[in-house]
Amino acid sequence: MPGAPSSSPEERHSVSGASEVVALQVRAREFAAAAGLGRVGQWELAIAVSEAVTNMIKYGGGGELILRRGEHPRPFVEFEARDRGRGIPSISDALVDNISEGEDAREASDPRRRRGLGLGLGAIQRLTDEVEIHSEPGVGTTLRARKWISGSGR
Ligand SMILES: Nc1ncnc2c1ncn2[C@@H]1O[C@H](COP(=O)(O)OP(=O)(O)OP(=O)(O)O)[C@@H](O)[C@H]1O
Ligand SMILES: [Mg+2]
Repeated sequence: MPGAPSSSPEERHSVSGASEVVALQVRAREFAAAAGLGRVGQWELAIAVSEAVTNMIKYGGGGELILRRGEHPRPFVEFEARDRGRGIPSISDALVDNISEGEDAREASDPRRRRGLGLGLGAIQRLTDEVEIHSEPGVGTTLRARKWISGSGR
C-alpha cells in the first residue's frame, strides 16, 4: 500500500500489470528508507524492484513482490519476486547483458519487435549486493535480491 508507514518486517504485493510498476518502485524506496538504507541505496533497490517486477509482468504473467527487512547476520533489506510463469531455461544466459529472450538485442533485425534490451537482470546484480534466482521451466521463477544496510547511511 503506497504511502503507508512501514513498521512491519515484511509486506506482500500482488503484481498483475504494467500500470503497477511505478507504485511498487515508490513503495520499495519507502520501505528501504524506513529500514534504514541510505538515499542512494534506496533508489538502487527501487530500480532493481522495477526491473524484477517488469520481468514478472512480461514473462511470468504477473506474480508476487515481497519486501522484507531483517537483522541477521546484519541489517539488510531485500525483495523477492515470485511468479508461476514459463521459467528461465538458462539463468546464466539470461544474466548476460544484451541477451533478451535468448537473442542478442543489438542484432535484432526489427527493433520494433524487440521486447527488451537484455539489461534488467544484469542491472539487478549491479544495484544489489546478493542475488539468487531459482527457476524451473513451466513452473515459475523466484528472484531474491538483498542490500546490506551499513552504518554509513549510503
Ligand atoms: N520472470 C521471468 N520469467 C521468465 N523469463 C524471464 C523472467 N525474467 C527474465 N526472463 C528471461 O531472461 C531474459 C533477460 O531478462 P532481462 O531483464 O535481463 O532482459 P529483458 O527483460 O529481455 O530486457 P530489459 O530488462 O533490458 O528490458 C529475458 O529476455 C527473458 O527471456
Ligand atoms: Mg527485463
